[in-house]
Amino acid sequence: MRPTDTLQRPLHDLRISVTDRCNFRCGYCMPQDVFHENYDFLPRSKILHFEEIERLARIFVELGVKKLRITGGEPLVRAQLPTLIAKLNQIPGVEDIALTTNGILLAKHAQALSDAGLKRVTVSLDSLEDTIYRHLNGVDTPVSQVLAGIEAAEKAGLAPIKINAVVQRGVNDHTLIDLAGHFRGSGHTLRFIEFMDVGNRNGWDLSHVVPTKELIEKINAEFPIEPVDPNYHGEVARRWRYRDGQGEVGFITSVTEPFCGECSRARLSSEGRLIPCLFASEGVDLKTPIRRGTSDDHLREIIASAWEKRADRYSQLRTQKTEQDAAQSNGRKLEMNHVGG
Ligand code: GTP
Ligand code: 5AD
Ligand code: SF4
Ligand code: SF4
Repeated sequence: MRPTDTLQRPLHDLRISVTDRCNFRCGYCMPQDVFHENYDFLPRSKILHFEEIERLARIFVELGVKKLRITGGEPLVRAQLPTLIAKLNQIPGVEDIALTTNGILLAKHAQALSDAGLKRVTVSLDSLEDTIYRHLNGVDTPVSQVLAGIEAAEKAGLAPIKINAVVQRGVNDHTLIDLAGHFRGSGHTLRFIEFMDVGNRNGWDLSHVVPTKELIEKINAEFPIEPVDPNYHGEVARRWRYRDGQGEVGFITSVTEPFCGECSRARLSSEGRLIPCLFASEGVDLKTPIRRGTSDDHLREIIASAWEKRADRYSQLRTQKTEQDAAQSNGRKLEMNHVGG
């Protein structure tokens, strides 16, 4: 069975959030004043066990999923993660297993992850400027630590490595040429992400977004670039390459040029909900049926029928709204640390 949703989009990717916790407090995701030491994170009993994640992943693969991505919170704060990777790696039909991380614990875990069957990592890094990086992560961690993580990932063969930089006007946009210069020629692909209105707490407003068009002009003036065809249908990042052969750079145009039309990504939250969209306000509970002893057939039906009802295309609708409307929709969305990126 290969369900398609109401907009004829198949189910192709599954993004699995393994924890709602993180060792960072980025202002746009888990601001310190909300996620303080007394914040109620999910207790262990409410988080899916590895066996439950594996079982669900198998069913998703039967329904068409080929790519798995592990996210969080910060996935590397979940104990024994390589054990989960090894289980997922044994599922027939999985073509790709990737991990999105802030990179801080990578130096410690890269080799074990690779040995367990992880193919590649994507590391979040918004600025190389130490003062800005320490401020952005909210816990004063130096940028040298993420660079060491990237190096360890490279040594462990977790490639191609992608670097994700969320661009915020007036915050890190004056440091992006440096970032591009650093990763040009490194073999890693830097991708710039337009700052999005995920969750309800990041104080988003359109004036904080640097449109990709503007950014492309800026990069092109310093390091000439040209567009490249997508790697695959529905690829999130727009690919460009340096004309002098120093590799690629990507742009994720989630605000100025949304890509909902091809969105075949399902998300599994850490507490076992199937989330149809990064901006959804709810999801379908899969944990309760699993813990009540439901059969695989029934779980397959629940997932397929949820996907068949899916009509989400938040980013496309956002561009049709005024900024004020977008602000009014706040208060109803799930938070990023539950949904993953
Ligand atoms: P690969 O092409 O497989 O390497 O990965 P990807 O680019 O699909 O995934 P990645 O997790 O690196 O995505 C980068 C960022 O793009 C995420 O952190 C989000 O900020 C954004 N993004 C990814 N998927 C979606 C999506 O479905 N909708 C929106 N609006 N943004 C997304
Ligand atoms: N807009 C764009 N990207 C975001 N991320 C987190 N919050 C936002 C946002 N508001 C990115 C992180 C990381 C991934 C998990 O999602 O930087 O790369
Ligand atoms: Fe943690 Fe990533 Fe959220 Fe930052 S963006 S707080 S690193 S989960
Ligand atoms: Fe997919 Fe929702 Fe993102 Fe659109 S906004 S690309 S539907 S996750």
